[in-house]
Amino acid sequence: MIYTKIKGTGSYVPKKVMTNEDLKQFVDTSDEWIVSRTGIKERHIVTDEFTVDLAEKASLKAIEDAGIDKSEIDIVIVATVTPDNAFPGIGNLLQGRLGLERVMTFDINAACSGFLYALEIADKMIKSGAYNNALIVGAETLTRLTDWRDRNTCVLFGDAAGAMIISKSDTNSIKDVICGSVSDSDGHLICNNVDIKDPAVNAVSVQDHIHMNGREVFKFATRIMPKTIRDLLERNNMVLDDLDYIVAHQANERIINKAARDLGYSMDKMFLNISKYGNTSSASVPLAIDEAIKTKKINKGDLFATVAFGGGFTWGGAIIEL
Ligand SMILES: CC(C)(COP(=O)(O)OP(=O)(O)OC[C@H]1O[C@@H](n2cnc3c(N)ncnc32)[C@H](O)[C@@H]1OP(=O)(O)O)[C@@H](O)C(=O)NCCC(=O)NCCS
Repeated sequence: MIYTKIKGTGSYVPKKVMTNEDLKQFVDTSDEWIVSRTGIKERHIVTDEFTVDLAEKASLKAIEDAGIDKSEIDIVIVATVTPDNAFPGIGNLLQGRLGLERVMTFDINAACSGFLYALEIADKMIKSGAYNNALIVGAETLTRLTDWRDRNTCVLFGDAAGAMIISKSDTNSIKDVICGSVSDSDGHLICNNVDIKDPAVNAVSVQDHIHMNGREVFKFATRIMPKTIRDLLERNNMVLDDLDYIVAHQANERIINKAARDLGYSMDKMFLNISKYGNTSSASVPLAIDEAIKTKKINKGDLFATVAFGGGFTWGGAIIEL
């Protein structure tokens, strides 16, 4: 039987910090509103960096943390909704930056659940016996898609990357991963692609911004997060008390609070770092797991669950023993 484990983690955020106070130069908002409705105090935003730059910096830290040689990596998967190009993908660019040889690289788009999708794919690819070490990354420069005149959305997002090395193991550490998707046919959370128009009519292509119906997304999130945790526990014959910690996608502190209440789980054991970073989409989960491990909230031998939801709608969750 082939098992898998987390061998190393790393994360990176751009230097520039934008506080709630700073946002007042773009939109009619207040620190009090943003903190009370979301828990966000500040976020990091890119100035001259691209998604691949963030991905590279987080990956180097994860590789160092894992203590492996770069040549041992045989899969690179990057979850992102903000790739720097239509092609080549960030995974491919990252391969070049890291100087990796003979690896399969690809990007996936499952919005804020993307990292869980990458984990599911890497986990199963390694368990198939064909691969040994996967570098999986969630990297986003979501502030490039943000409409800075829309107070409903621009206060929520930030830029970051988180990375993990997933490796073959003798012990059953990554116990289960589940992912799902349902079509958001009403477009409650959507960012359209660049308009492709006939050049003969001389139309200018425009990159769209994020559109969101916050209340509908809130309802979906608070339903799917507890359900995913319960499904994972049931599939693995576990109970809530078996979990030492839950690391949820950092989209809104109120969503995490409600999920904890519905589950009957203590907020003391729900990881929170949203106040510093905002919602960093597919980077949110690996950034949070890296911080939870580095600050010793999750320690060797601990059993934790992670869970995310995102545009699509998509969702994912996992139960992992560190
Ligand atoms: C976006 C969100 C914080 C809004 O909170 P809410 O309590 O639902 O607030 P509402 O949308 O009902 O808006 C309440 C009022 O605040 C106003 N408002 C919205 N954004 C504001 C801001 N940044 N500052 C001040 N006021 C704001 C609204 O215009 C509205 O005013 P009105 O009553 O005069 O119309 C919340 O719905 C949410 O977090 N949803 C999930 C979003 C999410 O997670 N997205 C990413 C998914 S991966």
